[in-house]
Amino acid sequence: MFKPLPTWWPDHPAIYDIKKTYQENFDQGPFFEGKLPKRVYPPKDEWCNFLGFEVASPLGVPAGPLLNSRWVKLAANLGFDIVTYKTIRSKPYPAHPLPNMIYVDTKGVLTAERSEEVLHQAETPPSSMHSLAATNSFGIPSQDAEFLLRDIDAGNRAMGPGQVMVVSIVGTPRAGEDFVQDFVLAAEVALNAGSKIIEADLSCPNVSTKEGSLFTDADSIEIITRALKKTMGAVPLILKLGMIYEPEVLKQVMLAAARGGAQAICGINTLSMQVVKGDGTSALGPGRLRSGVCGGPIHEAALFFTRMASQINKQEKLGFTLMSTGGVVEPEQFDSFFDAGADVAMSACGMMWDPYLAERYHRWKQSS
Ligand SMILES: Cc1cc2nc3c(=O)[nH]c(=O)nc-3n(C[C@H](O)[C@H](O)[C@H](O)COP(=O)(O)O)c2cc1C
Repeated sequence: MFKPLPTWWPDHPAIYDIKKTYQENFDQGPFFEGKLPKRVYPPKDEWCNFLGFEVASPLGVPAGPLLNSRWVKLAANLGFDIVTYKTIRSKPYPAHPLPNMIYVDTKGVLTAERSEEVLHQAETPPSSMHSLAATNSFGIPSQDAEFLLRDIDAGNRAMGPGQVMVVSIVGTPRAGEDFVQDFVLAAEVALNAGSKIIEADLSCPNVSTKEGSLFTDADSIEIITRALKKTMGAVPLILKLGMIYEPEVLKQVMLAAARGGAQAICGINTLSMQVVKGDGTSALGPGRLRSGVCGGPIHEAALFFTRMASQINKQEKLGFTLMSTGGVVEPEQFDSFFDAGADVAMSACGMMWDPYLAERYHRWKQSS
């Protein structure tokens, strides 16, 4: 029998301190003072193949919460077997100033019909994991290539048996420079550091330039995918998408991804919403009225996306590995993703507020 895991939130703080700057979290975090659970591995014949790597479970952390190799190592030690190194760029890039993450009052589940609604910052932190909802805006900060070469290597070396690290990359639009080529340059940084799997972030809702809306543009997706695959060769490529509600749009996107040569689709990113303070002004500061909402209220949207993507994958015989994230704040919710057709189920916001989420799932499965 296992010793029960303690409740984390609200008895313990989140492992990312939202009152501290991104750099402070990067330098000092993760803020985890609990015990590392002893992993009980399933027999090897129950492990699964993820893009050519044998993993002990199909649970993971998507791009975002794992800021550097220390964060990646902690997530792996906590039983997340597919961990994603936060999105990197080809050149260093600063984070947005504070606040970067605030609690939000979504007044229930977020649906397509509500996407233009204005949400309010929550006055108080959530009382339980069940009501966890936040919005974030970091601007995809990135370190220089020299640091990344060392730190991505350290992240790879921190993986235990049955674990693999993905590195997320993004292109940066700069005047007079080729955007597609910048995606390739970012991938080259990751490849030079020894990345085994690369994810291209086509979906960030928090950038004011064109990289945020790529995920519905089938032509651009095909061009970027082809260019990346040319450089990456046999290294698997995941495309990270944002929420798409229209089946035909998602189908065209997935067909373009397949023509370009991608191996996996990951969705969804945070839902882009307007969030204000009590006085009606932008809660995250000037110029950042829209930001990405994550946590429990986006789970239904993520399930909808997963079912749709799974159906298209089967109907069109695309053979993509399907990776789902969005709104998993309690362990049983990983299973809703598998039931909806996902091959991999992940949590970003949820694991920051309950770092034992994966281990709770593993124990629940082993005891049922
Ligand atoms: C703090 C934070 C930072 C994030 N940064 C990134 C990022 O750099 N790249 C990316 O593709 N997605 C990023 N995301 C989005 C997550 O990968 C995920 O798609 C989204 O949060 C929905 O999942 P969740 O509800 O489990 O958090 C970030 C999310 C959070 C919470």
